[in-house]
Amino acid sequence: MRVLFVCLGNICRSPLAEGLARHRAAALGLDWEFDSAGTGAHYHAGAPPDPRTCASARRRGIALEHLRARQVGPEDFARFDLILAADRQNLRALEALRPPGAAARVALLLDWTGVQPQGEVPDPYYGGDDDFEAVCRLLERAADALLARATGA
Ligand code: 4NP
Repeated sequence: MRVLFVCLGNICRSPLAEGLARHRAAALGLDWEFDSAGTGAHYHAGAPPDPRTCASARRRGIALEHLRARQVGPEDFARFDLILAADRQNLRALEALRPPGAAARVALLLDWTGVQPQGEVPDPYYGGDDDFEAVCRLLERAADALLARATGA
Protein backbone atom coordinates (compact mmCIF):
# COMPACT_ATOMS: atom_id res chain seq x y z
CA MET A 1 0.00 0.00 0.00
CA ARG A 2 1.34 3.41 -0.99
CA VAL A 3 -0.24 6.43 0.69
CA LEU A 4 0.36 10.12 -0.06
CA PHE A 5 -0.73 12.77 2.45
CA VAL A 6 -1.46 16.19 0.99
CA CYS A 7 -1.84 19.64 2.57
CA LEU A 8 -1.12 23.13 1.28
CA GLY A 9 2.50 23.89 2.20
CA ASN A 10 3.82 20.35 2.92
CA ILE A 11 5.57 21.76 5.98
CA CYS A 12 2.95 21.30 8.75
CA ARG A 13 0.09 18.81 8.45
CA SER A 14 1.14 16.36 5.74
CA PRO A 15 4.75 15.70 6.84
CA LEU A 16 3.42 15.12 10.35
CA ALA A 17 0.83 12.66 8.99
CA GLU A 18 3.57 10.96 6.97
CA GLY A 19 5.89 10.59 9.98
CA LEU A 20 3.16 9.41 12.36
CA ALA A 21 1.80 6.87 9.87
CA ARG A 22 5.29 5.54 9.09
CA HIS A 23 6.03 5.19 12.80
CA ARG A 24 2.74 3.38 13.53
CA ALA A 25 3.06 1.11 10.47
CA ALA A 26 6.59 0.10 11.49
CA ALA A 27 5.34 -0.74 15.00
CA LEU A 28 2.72 -3.01 13.41
CA GLY A 29 5.27 -4.56 11.04
CA LEU A 30 3.43 -3.26 7.98
CA ASP A 31 5.49 -2.74 4.85
CA TRP A 32 3.64 0.36 3.62
CA GLU A 33 5.08 3.33 1.81
CA PHE A 34 4.23 6.88 2.88
CA ASP A 35 5.02 10.25 1.41
CA SER A 36 3.61 13.77 1.58
CA ALA A 37 3.27 16.73 -0.74
CA GLY A 38 1.57 20.12 -0.93
CA THR A 39 -0.86 21.54 -3.44
CA GLY A 40 0.72 24.98 -3.04
CA ALA A 41 4.19 23.80 -2.07
CA HIS A 42 5.93 26.07 -4.52
CA TYR A 43 6.08 28.51 -1.58
CA HIS A 44 8.10 26.07 0.48
CA ALA A 45 9.46 23.51 -2.02
CA GLY A 46 12.78 22.11 -0.80
CA ALA A 47 12.20 23.36 2.75
CA PRO A 48 12.21 21.12 5.84
CA PRO A 49 9.01 20.89 7.92
CA ASP A 50 8.10 23.83 10.16
CA PRO A 51 10.13 23.73 13.43
CA ARG A 52 6.85 23.45 15.39
CA THR A 53 5.89 20.40 13.31
CA CYS A 54 9.30 18.86 14.03
CA ALA A 55 8.93 19.61 17.76
CA SER A 56 5.51 17.88 17.95
CA ALA A 57 6.93 14.82 16.20
CA ARG A 58 10.10 14.80 18.31
CA ARG A 59 8.01 14.66 21.49
CA ARG A 60 6.73 11.34 20.11
CA GLY A 61 10.18 10.05 19.21
CA ILE A 62 9.80 10.78 15.50
CA ALA A 63 12.36 12.75 13.45
CA LEU A 64 11.04 14.79 10.52
CA GLU A 65 13.92 17.21 9.99
CA HIS A 66 15.24 15.29 6.95
CA LEU A 67 11.97 15.67 4.98
CA ARG A 68 11.75 18.27 2.20
CA ALA A 69 8.59 19.89 0.88
CA ARG A 70 7.50 19.22 -2.67
CA GLN A 71 4.51 20.02 -4.78
CA VAL A 72 2.05 17.27 -5.71
CA GLY A 73 1.97 16.45 -9.43
CA PRO A 74 -0.07 14.39 -11.92
CA GLU A 75 2.49 11.55 -11.70
CA ASP A 76 1.54 11.03 -8.03
CA PHE A 77 -1.82 9.61 -9.15
CA ALA A 78 0.05 6.65 -10.67
CA ARG A 79 2.63 6.29 -7.88
CA PHE A 80 0.16 6.06 -4.98
CA ASP A 81 -2.83 3.84 -4.21
CA LEU A 82 -4.41 6.34 -1.87
CA ILE A 83 -4.08 10.14 -1.74
CA LEU A 84 -5.47 11.74 1.42
CA ALA A 85 -6.17 15.47 1.65
CA ALA A 86 -6.04 17.46 4.89
CA ASP A 87 -9.02 19.65 3.96
CA ARG A 88 -11.55 20.38 1.24
CA GLN A 89 -9.45 23.09 -0.41
CA ASN A 90 -6.67 20.57 -0.98
CA LEU A 91 -9.15 17.87 -2.02
CA ARG A 92 -10.51 20.21 -4.70
CA ALA A 93 -6.98 20.99 -5.91
CA LEU A 94 -6.23 17.25 -6.14
CA GLU A 95 -9.43 16.57 -8.06
CA ALA A 96 -8.47 19.30 -10.55
CA LEU A 97 -5.00 17.80 -11.00
CA ARG A 98 -6.10 14.16 -11.28
CA PRO A 99 -5.40 12.74 -14.76
CA PRO A 100 -8.42 11.08 -16.37
CA GLY A 101 -8.53 7.37 -15.61
CA ALA A 102 -5.96 7.56 -12.79
CA ALA A 103 -6.29 4.60 -10.44
CA ALA A 104 -5.41 6.30 -7.14
CA ARG A 105 -8.25 6.85 -4.69
CA VAL A 106 -8.50 10.43 -3.47
CA ALA A 107 -10.31 11.32 -0.23
CA LEU A 108 -10.39 13.58 2.80
CA LEU A 109 -8.09 12.09 5.45
CA LEU A 110 -10.43 12.38 8.44
CA ASP A 111 -13.41 11.19 6.43
CA TRP A 112 -11.61 8.22 4.88
CA THR A 113 -10.31 7.07 8.26
CA GLY A 114 -13.68 7.57 9.98
CA VAL A 115 -12.17 9.95 12.55
CA GLN A 116 -14.61 12.73 11.59
CA PRO A 117 -17.09 12.48 8.71
CA GLN A 118 -16.30 15.25 6.21
CA GLY A 119 -13.83 16.60 8.78
CA GLU A 120 -10.86 18.81 7.99
CA VAL A 121 -7.44 18.97 9.64
CA PRO A 122 -7.16 22.64 10.66
CA ASP A 123 -4.19 24.56 9.31
CA PRO A 124 -1.91 25.32 12.30
CA TYR A 125 0.52 27.53 10.35
CA TYR A 126 -0.72 30.82 11.80
CA GLY A 127 -1.45 29.26 15.19
CA GLY A 128 0.59 28.46 18.27
CA ASP A 129 2.18 25.38 19.81
CA ASP A 130 -1.20 24.26 21.17
CA ASP A 131 -2.59 24.21 17.63
CA PHE A 132 0.29 22.01 16.48
CA GLU A 133 -0.29 19.63 19.40
CA ALA A 134 -4.02 19.43 18.61
CA VAL A 135 -3.26 18.68 14.95
CA CYS A 136 -0.75 16.06 16.01
CA ARG A 137 -3.31 14.29 18.22
CA LEU A 138 -5.86 14.35 15.40
CA LEU A 139 -3.31 12.94 12.95
CA GLU A 140 -2.31 10.19 15.40
CA ARG A 141 -5.93 9.09 15.55
CA ALA A 142 -6.15 9.22 11.76
CA ALA A 143 -2.94 7.19 11.32
CA ASP A 144 -4.16 4.56 13.78
CA ALA A 145 -7.56 4.37 12.11
CA LEU A 146 -6.00 4.17 8.63
CA LEU A 147 -3.88 1.20 9.63
CA ALA A 148 -6.64 -0.43 11.70
CA ARG A 149 -8.98 -0.24 8.76
CA ALA A 150 -6.42 -2.01 6.59
CA THR A 151 -5.33 -4.64 9.07
CA GLY A 152 -8.65 -5.28 10.77
CA ALA A 153 -6.92 -4.45 14.09
P1 4NP B 1 0.42 23.05 5.78
O1 4NP B 1 0.47 24.50 6.46
O2 4NP B 1 -0.47 23.16 4.58
O3 4NP B 1 -0.17 22.18 6.85
O4 4NP B 1 1.85 22.70 5.45
C1 4NP B 1 0.77 25.66 5.78
C2 4NP B 1 2.08 25.99 5.54
C3 4NP B 1 2.39 27.17 4.90
C4 4NP B 1 1.37 28.01 4.47
C5 4NP B 1 0.06 27.66 4.68
C6 4NP B 1 -0.25 26.47 5.33
N1 4NP B 1 1.69 29.23 3.84
O5 4NP B 1 0.75 29.99 3.54
O6 4NP B 1 2.87 29.53 3.60
